[in-house]
Amino acid sequence: MADNSENKSGSGDCGIVIRDDWPGYSLDLFTYPQHYSEDLECVYIPHGVIMDRTERLARNIMDDLGDHDIVVLCVLKGGYQFCADLVERIKTLNRNSSKTLPMSVDFIRLKSYLNDQSTEDLHIIGAENLSVLSGKNVLIVEVIVDTGKTMKTLLNHVEGFRPKMIKVAGLLVKRVPNGPGCLPDYVGFEIPNRFVVGYALDYNEYFRDLNHICVISESGKQKYKV
Ligand code: HPA
Ligand code: MG
Repeated sequence: MADNSENKSGSGDCGIVIRDDWPGYSLDLFTYPQHYSEDLECVYIPHGVIMDRTERLARNIMDDLGDHDIVVLCVLKGGYQFCADLVERIKTLNRNSSKTLPMSVDFIRLKSYLNDQSTEDLHIIGAENLSVLSGKNVLIVEVIVDTGKTMKTLLNHVEGFRPKMIKVAGLLVKRVPNGPGCLPDYVGFEIPNRFVVGYALDYNEYFRDLNHICVISESGKQKYKV
């Protein structure tokens, strides 16, 4: 993780900044599952834009880490889609350039959110023995970083297995009060402090089956509250 004043990616790329006054796109301009028609306010980041941005992140990662071996550590559940798409684009680069990035992929599962609130207790579950990370170059792939608490806990956990290097790719970084303190090395988008769903980001496990990143509506929050 880079601290806030520094960007470790050689490209000087700190992510696409989405401003607080960005209203998103009208839902009518896109297709999405009709079972969510009452549950969303707007399309915040269309799926195609996520894909295009992911392609560029793959290139930045390749420029920095090419010719190293890496272990991609996918942070479940929310990170599965981003991780799959990012790995797919790195695979394309591996087939089309002289520099290549041999990868293995592993998984870790975290849970901290109930409704739209971060809970105090962060659970690391489903983590099998991560001693395979020892001495390796690890790329942690997380879909969203907001308070940074989850990321810090995870970094401590992973550091315990003594990897040679840890880099973090985060698709979204949320601008929250007292921000994350440290930022992923590779950032897709910096977004306002709004609760977003889709592209595997959930609200109580719903909305993972939505391609675009959208803002949930009040009625959506009520409907799927637990
Ligand atoms: N949406 C879904 N999950 C999250 C979010 C969000 O905005 N922030 C942290 N986890
Ligand atoms: Mg969640």
